[in-house]
Amino acid sequence: MQPTSSRFDPRVSGLSQQVKNLAEPQHIYLEKARDVRAEHLDGALHVYRHEDILALNKHMDILGNGGRGGSFGHDARLIPLEIDGPEHKKWRRLLDPLFAPKQVQRLEESIRRLASELIDDARASGGAEWYGAFCTPLPCQIFLGLVGAPLSDLDFFLEFKDGVIHPEGETTEEIDAHMAAAGGKLLEYFSSFLVDKRGRLDRDDDVIADLMRAEVAGEPLTEFELVNILFLLMFAGLDTVTSSLSCLVAWLGRHPDQRQELIDSPDLLAPAIEELLRFESPVPSGMRYAERDIDLGDGLVVAAGEEINAFWAAANVDPTYHDDPLRVDFRRERTGHMTFASGTHRCLGSHLARLELRIALQEILGKIPLFDIEVADLVYDNVAVRAVTNLPVTLR
Ligand code: HEM
Repeated sequence: MQPTSSRFDPRVSGLSQQVKNLAEPQHIYLEKARDVRAEHLDGALHVYRHEDILALNKHMDILGNGGRGGSFGHDARLIPLEIDGPEHKKWRRLLDPLFAPKQVQRLEESIRRLASELIDDARASGGAEWYGAFCTPLPCQIFLGLVGAPLSDLDFFLEFKDGVIHPEGETTEEIDAHMAAAGGKLLEYFSSFLVDKRGRLDRDDDVIADLMRAEVAGEPLTEFELVNILFLLMFAGLDTVTSSLSCLVAWLGRHPDQRQELIDSPDLLAPAIEELLRFESPVPSGMRYAERDIDLGDGLVVAAGEEINAFWAAANVDPTYHDDPLRVDFRRERTGHMTFASGTHRCLGSHLARLELRIALQEILGKIPLFDIEVADLVYDNVAVRAVTNLPVTLR
């Protein structure tokens, strides 16, 4: 891994630390969008408004994730997150169909069955800590099945994604060392896993098998490319839905009247999920890199070479774009959140995430509508990905 001590890491930045364990960081993000618009913090330009980030994300002179690679405990640039231009298009053309709506829709029944079983287990004991008992196993088991990685190694994959997304350490150097250790184990794991998998490729119908059979520009993927894609998929797919689900369940637990509204009007569930994704913004920000000067108007010029921390969470409560942004309104007219980013590097897994969230909430509201949560015991973590890591649920 390259020495990256000069690299900006949003996890140790002042703003992440300021909101670190807040249950309601939204008002801080709103003030940033309303009063500040953009500022230099810890060496990176933080951009807070919806229209500015939208313009940056589709600008031809903006590179994804700093365009530098090596930021997640892996030497190489991760495919497709840290690749740009025609190369990036080439990889998205390969990956998009594997996570397209029609493809993920096939999982509906298995997601529902697993959600229902997990709820029954928790019901049998009268309650549970929901982050561990429901929000983690549901999306993670489904994801491993879809990708074709062994369910028996779930704990290994969870340790990997925690090591990369939530590494221990107070400084960038400490964080990098922990990420590199977690990343190294996954690379080792996949190099022997792929050899075994090649032997039974004809029988397997999953993402890894599809990638191993695929060709890009007439050539099969190299092992390096395969492992590189899997590295990103394993942490992107395993952490985000768990975290989002924990935020949504906690919010519904804290707002029984609006929960009742969803029980009474199930048609509101899809817009409610979008509204809660906007408000909760589970991935607070992402990195961009300006190749040339970019004039965003009204005196804001992003200078060539600048590292940009695009704050999706602030854009989502930007009062210059959203009316009354701190109000959660399932019937909001102007939607258009940035929870899955926008433009070139828009989330690959949004269809899967939405499907899992919808089924999980349908099952919860259908089977245990009167659940209670211990508000005083909730533990929020807003660094890197917002999650409620302690979510005690009791069932009446
Ligand atoms: C609610 C859950 C999810 C949220 C909030 C979320 C959010 C995001 C965001 C904000 C980005 C842009 C990152 C950046 O540019 O810095 C992104 C990209 C990405 N996401 Fe997700 N994600 C979710 C679920 C998933 C799932 C389930 C997968 C598994 C396939 C996934 C795979 C990816 C990949 C591969 C990228 C990189 C896309 C590219 O660079 O072209 N995500 N996601």
